Amino acid sequence: MELNDNLHDSVLVLDFGAQYGHLIARKIRECGVRSELVPYDLPEAEIQKRAPKGLVLSGGPTSIYDDGSPRCDPAIFSSGIPILGICYGLQLIVDFYGGKVRRSEKREYGKTEIHREQSSELFKGLDDKIVCWMSHGDTAETLPKDFAILARSDNSPAAAIQRVGSQTYGVQFHPEVSHTPRGQEILRNYLFEICHCNPSWKIETLSDQLIDGIKKQVGNERVLCAMSGGVDSATVAVLLHNAIGEKLTCIFVDHGLLRSGEADQVTKTFLEQFQIKFHRVDAKKRFLSKLEGVDDPEKKRLIIGEEFARVFSEESVKQGPFEWLAQGTLYPDVIESSTTGSPASRIKSHHNVAGLPHWLDLKVLEPLRELYKDEVRRLGSHLGLSDEIIGRHPFPGPGLAVRILGIITPEKLRICREASRIVEEELRSTDLYSKVWQAFAIVGDDKAVGVLGDARSYGSMVTIRIVESTDAMTADWTRLPHDVTAKMSDRITNEVSGVSWVNYAISSKPPSTIEPQ
Ligand code: XMP
Repeated sequence: MELNDNLHDSVLVLDFGAQYGHLIARKIRECGVRSELVPYDLPEAEIQKRAPKGLVLSGGPTSIYDDGSPRCDPAIFSSGIPILGICYGLQLIVDFYGGKVRRSEKREYGKTEIHREQSSELFKGLDDKIVCWMSHGDTAETLPKDFAILARSDNSPAAAIQRVGSQTYGVQFHPEVSHTPRGQEILRNYLFEICHCNPSWKIETLSDQLIDGIKKQVGNERVLCAMSGGVDSATVAVLLHNAIGEKLTCIFVDHGLLRSGEADQVTKTFLEQFQIKFHRVDAKKRFLSKLEGVDDPEKKRLIIGEEFARVFSEESVKQGPFEWLAQGTLYPDVIESSTTGSPASRIKSHHNVAGLPHWLDLKVLEPLRELYKDEVRRLGSHLGLSDEIIGRHPFPGPGLAVRILGIITPEKLRICREASRIVEEELRSTDLYSKVWQAFAIVGDDKAVGVLGDARSYGSMVTIRIVESTDAMTADWTRLPHDVTAKMSDRITNEVSGVSWVNYAISSKPPSTIEPQ
C-alpha cells in the first residue's frame, strides 16, 4: 500500500539497495513530510505523476563503474525536481554529469569530521566542522564542471557537492543515521530550504490514508487477520475494523512457543477491549511435532511460516470463506528478509514475510509494510489501543523457537519460558520494562557445573538478552544496574530447575542481531 495522496507534499527516495535506505524515508516522515521508498528505475513519467517536491538517491552496495550498476531514469536530472544523492547517490550524480568515480585508497568507515568549504542552504545553521558517518570504498576523483565542493574530509575531497545554479546536491556521508548527530538538521534543510516542503504530514493523516487504502483494496471481500496480541497486529486489526467492520475476523494461533500465560492473556485482553470477531486456535501439537529434531535456525523459521499458512488456510475454509490474509508486517521485517527486490541481502526469514508458501490461496494485506515500530506505536495510540498493548515488547512470530538454540525439547522450552518470565517480572518491578526494547532469556545445549546445597549440579546455561532500540534496525545492549541482573540470576538459578549458570549478552546490533536465531 502506498503512503500516497495528493494532499501533502512528498519526497521520494530512490532505492539503490542500501541496507538502511528506508531510514531516509522514515526520517523525512519524522520531519512531517510524506515519503516512501521507490525502485531506483522508476520512470521519470511515473515520478512526475506523483508530483514529489524532492528526490533522494539512496546509497547502495554497488560501485557506479561496475557493469550493470543500478541507474535511475536520466530524465530525472532535467526534471527540475531538487535532488539529493547520498553516498552511491552522490557518485551516480558525479558519473552522470561526466565526472570520475574511483576506488579510494583508504576506505572511509565510521565517524568522520567534514569541513565546510562554502556556505550553502544544505548546511544552514550548522558549524564549519560537522561530525558525520561515512561508509564507502569509492570516491569522486574528478568532479564534473559546474560542480562546487561544499565540504571535504581528509579522505573525501568531495564530501558534499552542489551543481552550481541548480538544486542538485550530493553528500558522501549518511545524514539518515544517528551517528551523524546533526543529520536530521541537514535533511530538514534539504526539505524546507531547498525543496520548500510544507510539513503537513502526520499520524492522523496516515491513519485516514491507510483506512481509505484498505477500503479500496479490499472492496466487498472478507479478511482474516493473523493476530498475535502485539501492537502491530492489533493496530492492523483496528485499522481493518474501521475500514471493513464485520467483514473482518481475527485469528490467534497458539503454536506452543508462546511466553508464560501469553495465550490466555491475549485472549482476555482482546475480548475485553475489542468488538471484533476473534478466534483462537490451539495448534501446539502440530507445530511442535513439525519442529521435532530441527536445529537449523532458518529451517525452524520456514517450517513455522509454512505451518502458520496451513492453519490460516484451514481456518479460512472453516470460518470463511475469506479472500485476504492480513498481517502486521513492518518494514524492518521486509528489509531483513530481503524480499523487496532491492539489492540488500537476506539476514533472516521473518516468518510472516519469507515464510508464506505460494500455494496459500489468500491475497496478502500488509498495511504497515512501509512503517517502523515507533510509527506503528503512535498510530496504534491514535487509534485508541490501550497502553498495555502499545507498550508490549516486540515478540517474534516464531516465538521461543528462535530463542532455543539447537533442537527444541520440552525441557528447553520450559527453561526458556520460565527464565523469560522472571526477566520480565524483574524489569516490571524495577520500572525498567518500558525503558528497554526487548528483554528475554535464551537457552541452548551448553551446560555448566554448579553447586546445589552441598552437591554438584550440572545444568543449563541461560543467557539474558536485553536491548535498547528505536526501530530494531540497530540495537544496543542495556547496561542494567548490577543489582537487577544479580536478582535475575539468583531467581533463575533458584526457581528454574535445571539451570546452573546465567550469562548476560553484551553484543549490540550490528554486528549481532537481537534474536539469537
Ligand atoms: P533481529 O533478531 O533480526 O530482530 O535483530 C529484529 C526485530 O524483529 C523481531 N523478529 C521477528 N518478528 N517475525 C516477527 O514478527 C519474525 O520472524 C521475527 N524475527 C525477529 C525481533 O524480535 C526484533 O524485535
